[in-house]
Amino acid sequence: MTAHVRLPRIAVPDDAGRRAFLSDVIAGLSADPKQIPPKYFYDERGSQLFEVITRTPEYYPTRIETGILTEQAGAIAGFVPTGAALVEFGAGSLAKARILLAAASVKAFVPVDISAAYLAGEAARFSRELPGLDVLPVVADFTAPFVLPAEIAALPKVGFFPGSTIGNFEPHEAAAFLRHAGRLLGPGARLIIGVDLVKDPDTLTRAYNDAAGVTAEFNLNLLRRINRELGANFDLSGFWHRAVYNRDLRRIEMHLASRVRQRVRIDGHCFDFRRGETIHTESSYKYTPDLFRTLAAGSGWRLAETWTDRDGWFAVHALIMA
Ligand code: AVJ
Repeated sequence: MTAHVRLPRIAVPDDAGRRAFLSDVIAGLSADPKQIPPKYFYDERGSQLFEVITRTPEYYPTRIETGILTEQAGAIAGFVPTGAALVEFGAGSLAKARILLAAASVKAFVPVDISAAYLAGEAARFSRELPGLDVLPVVADFTAPFVLPAEIAALPKVGFFPGSTIGNFEPHEAAAFLRHAGRLLGPGARLIIGVDLVKDPDTLTRAYNDAAGVTAEFNLNLLRRINRELGANFDLSGFWHRAVYNRDLRRIEMHLASRVRQRVRIDGHCFDFRRGETIHTESSYKYTPDLFRTLAAGSGWRLAETWTDRDGWFAVHALIMA
């Protein structure tokens, strides 16, 4: 059997990417309260900072999820039909897929990510490491509709969405994502999804306020990126990182809070900040297994199995399209 890797098609020209970024930032800063979508954290420096976050002692999700995948690899692989296509949504770090691919007999691996350069490098490494695996990267924003490679049309399909990235969506958006993923993967499809669990507020708050200040740097990097790519004049020293747990909504909220009254210019637009006013940059929703079961059921998925660590801090769920 010969493996092959197809080079990703560049689906989003840089200029269109910049225009979308600009219009999202203008719209978000014109809203009340001000907000910017968290998907813009991940420029090159932001992606590196996120990697560093995952190694801080306070940020437990990556470590614990990786532990669950490793310890339960056999059971999770049992959920993947032989010869399946594994479709990973937002293949930010392929370390987790690697664990699954080593344990299951997968025919094709389809990492879907917005970054073409990143995908090209990782895809090439994967097919070298795993001969016999067809690596078919798709360059796309997985929050918008996209098409699967024709090569996997006849294969059983398993979605993979680790990292609790689903927690970044508002619950109605999470429901819409699950519905779209179901439609994309088709009847009989399965989905393996990592979801951070509701837990004591101190542990949650610490995970987003690491003592070394990496999360603060990650949050502030968004302003640096807006300055560089959109020609804005944010003064980074005029904002501070604030992460709080909202118990009623079961979510961590990250904000950039203005230290002073100030005005910022972006592409001919002016934005005024009151002292203490914030830009809401990320929500990270936490779900109990029951709440997640209900969310998935409302989007056409039946929760078949759940694996957690012994402390019950993180869950890997297996879903089947109902
Ligand atoms: C990548 C969305 C899972 O919400 O925990 C980590 C991003 N933000 N620290 C999360 C993040 C701040 C992370 N996800």
